[in-house]
Amino acid sequence: MRPIYLDNHATTPVDPKVVEAMLPYFSEYFGNPSSITHHYGWEAEAGVKKAREIIAESINASPEEIIFTSGATEANNLAIKGIAENYFNQGRHIITLATEHHAVLDPCEYLEKLGFEVTYLPVEKDGLINLETLEKSLREDTILVSIMAANNEIGVLQPLAEIGELCRDRGVFFHTDAAQALGKIPLDVQGMQIDVMSLTAHKLYGPKGIGALYVRRRNPRVRLAAQLHGGGQEKGLRSGTLYPPQIVGFGEAVRLALEERETEGKRQQELRDRLWEQLQQLDEVYLNGHPSQRLPGNLNVSFAGVDGAALLLGLQNQIAVSSGSACSTTSTAPSHVLTALGRSQDLAYASLRFGLGRFTTEAEIEMAGKAAIATVQSLRRVTV
Ligand SMILES: Cc1ncc(COP(=O)(O)O)c(C=O)c1O
Repeated sequence: MRPIYLDNHATTPVDPKVVEAMLPYFSEYFGNPSSITHHYGWEAEAGVKKAREIIAESINASPEEIIFTSGATEANNLAIKGIAENYFNQGRHIITLATEHHAVLDPCEYLEKLGFEVTYLPVEKDGLINLETLEKSLREDTILVSIMAANNEIGVLQPLAEIGELCRDRGVFFHTDAAQALGKIPLDVQGMQIDVMSLTAHKLYGPKGIGALYVRRRNPRVRLAAQLHGGGQEKGLRSGTLYPPQIVGFGEAVRLALEERETEGKRQQELRDRLWEQLQQLDEVYLNGHPSQRLPGNLNVSFAGVDGAALLLGLQNQIAVSSGSACSTTSTAPSHVLTALGRSQDLAYASLRFGLGRFTTEAEIEMAGKAAIATVQSLRRVTV
């Protein structure tokens, strides 16, 4: 039997309804959406158009503001490097958060090598940004603030509307990495005054390898320098033949997620809270991240007195979870997110991220809780 899958922040299975929507676009509607001279191109373009509309509507944007990419990594790179390259004459200062995903941190570090200055804001103990600190960090030469919507490790939700207001007042572009947030929490680029937003399909039961960047076209218009040059697709911002099956799947995944967002969020939150309650039968367990301002399916817990690697090893045949970020599992360093919260190295290592999803059942949560408790108890007995 395979272990219980509780790593839905790393990726999610493709929903069978999404697969069904994608299938005709492989061999039947196989045209190139850029082939505007014939029927085959029009069919493929019709699928792409519909998906673009669904995705745009889900974030209160217009379809021409959606640029398809290979995922959120590429979208983040395009947003951050694209703004830096286009606006460096106006300033070379960028602000981001210490707990961002590496797909934001690494482009920022790259830009530092090119002469940009980056402020990596600390977070509070609960993982949230301090708005006063952000305000104080804004400078005359700040061109971009990049703060994620939902953290991939501890699930905390940053106050996007407040950040957006601050940035708009100061005339600074606001980018948010919403890879984990799309379909889980309400996102509104108008209400939250977001200028650029990164999205991905595989965290919400869509296929891997497809995402998008929302780029504001008016009030204010954001101009990006393209990072991929070629055939001029996606308004010249992202060249390369569009991939209709993936795009159609992305659209269908967003449509399904919105349809069930509230009921599913409530269901996952209840299961998550139950799991946390169960784990508190152990002493010295610590919740990482704000208790309520977090994704409904996220629980991140540190277990004192156990070795992190032994914990994962002990659980690997029972539950599929990650410690720290699954996107950097090859790294042996403790999670940069947990250390930014002030957790010690040992506690940061001895942490589990439980990511519940659409297909997680009550019975699975019960079993996962029991497995984690038994494993922690036996490891603690060994270390005593
Ligand atoms: C917050 C965040 N940003 C970016 C990414 C990268 O997204 P993608 O896998 O679509 O490139 C992930 C997922 O690993 C993520 O959780």
